[in-house]
Amino acid sequence: MIASGSAASTEAPVSLITGGAGFVAANLIPRLLNEGRRVVCVDNLSRGRLSYLDKHATSLGFAFVRADLSDRDECVAAFGAASLAGTLDEVWHLAANSDIPAGVADPDVDHKDTFRTTFEVLRAMRLHGVRTLHFASSSAVYGDMGELALVETAGPLLPISNYGAMKLASEAQISAASETHLDRAHLFRFPNVVGVPATHGVIVDFVRKLVEDPERLAVLGNGSQRKAYLHVSDLVDAMLWIRSRASQRRGVFNIGPVDDGVEVRWIAAKVVEAMAPNARIEFGSGNRGWVGDVPRFRYDTRLVGSLGWKPRLDSASAVLRAIAEVVEQERPNANV
Ligand SMILES: NC(=O)c1ccc[n+]([C@@H]2O[C@H](COP(=O)([O-])OP(=O)(O)OC[C@H]3O[C@@H](n4cnc5c(N)ncnc54)[C@H](O)[C@@H]3O)[C@@H](O)[C@H]2O)c1
Repeated sequence: MIASGSAASTEAPVSLITGGAGFVAANLIPRLLNEGRRVVCVDNLSRGRLSYLDKHATSLGFAFVRADLSDRDECVAAFGAASLAGTLDEVWHLAANSDIPAGVADPDVDHKDTFRTTFEVLRAMRLHGVRTLHFASSSAVYGDMGELALVETAGPLLPISNYGAMKLASEAQISAASETHLDRAHLFRFPNVVGVPATHGVIVDFVRKLVEDPERLAVLGNGSQRKAYLHVSDLVDAMLWIRSRASQRRGVFNIGPVDDGVEVRWIAAKVVEAMAPNARIEFGSGNRGWVGDVPRFRYDTRLVGSLGWKPRLDSASAVLRAIAEVVEQERPNANV
């Protein structure tokens, strides 16, 4: 385990972010530091990168701990290190396997990085008396509900990927923990989130393919998959909004745009237009990109809307902004 960054006053409030070297964390960290909090990021660097944290490395309120949170001893030690930074009073649990096809190929991946990390984080929170948890869940917990609008109270929930199954199991474990040692638990169900620094997802996949071969873009599935996309800046806004306004001890929130999303074929066309206008787009067959892919979903976001939050960007605008950001990120010699 390595630690860097600051030692600090024992009075300062501390946020621990698991998966702290990943995409969403990179956008959350500055917002928490701006609140005057100290931030301790924990990550095993299986997907995240230390370079995403470079700009915070010299910040007085920031520290990084390298640890595998599915390992009991490493997880408890990471919490111990975070407790030294001040008063550890909240955890943002973002660590997970974010590669759904990898979990289809080997279910152990989701069990270890998505469920086991949740189980060990909850156990360490109990040990250290940390009573507030914000959890990155996913639309994948709903499974394939066809054209039905996905509402937080829907059920039974029957995920169709190991990733979704382990997110749902994590939600269940958090729910049980809120009967014993949590005062507040927010279960945020994200849609597809876009922006930078992108570690995965359809846009970065298309951009990397075109960097490799500017003549052709192969699309997984027939391109008719229609999904809701949220820009990461809106996602972080929504989570902080809910954190400051929701009154539930244990709340489940869909976070997403209010539209029905855009089709993958449209995203492919826009990436080609931005990068290689002469490339031909080759579609696969069937309406799923991979086993466990949910081809269409419509989010019901009235609950977060009732708290007064609405996104600044709809799905199409979020995707267009993210394409420009990811193209810049993947440019040779880009500073990421
Ligand atoms: N980005 C999306 O579109 C999206 C959609 C729905 C849900 N989510 C969830 O949001 C969270 C953040 O997603 P992201 O896009 O930033 O993903 P990401 O892959 O960029 O970040 C996750 C981080 O967790 C770390 N990690 C994985 N296993 C670990 C372990 N055992 N111990 C310590 N660290 C570990 C990885 O190294 C990575 O840095 C994840 O839980 C993800 O499942 C993301």
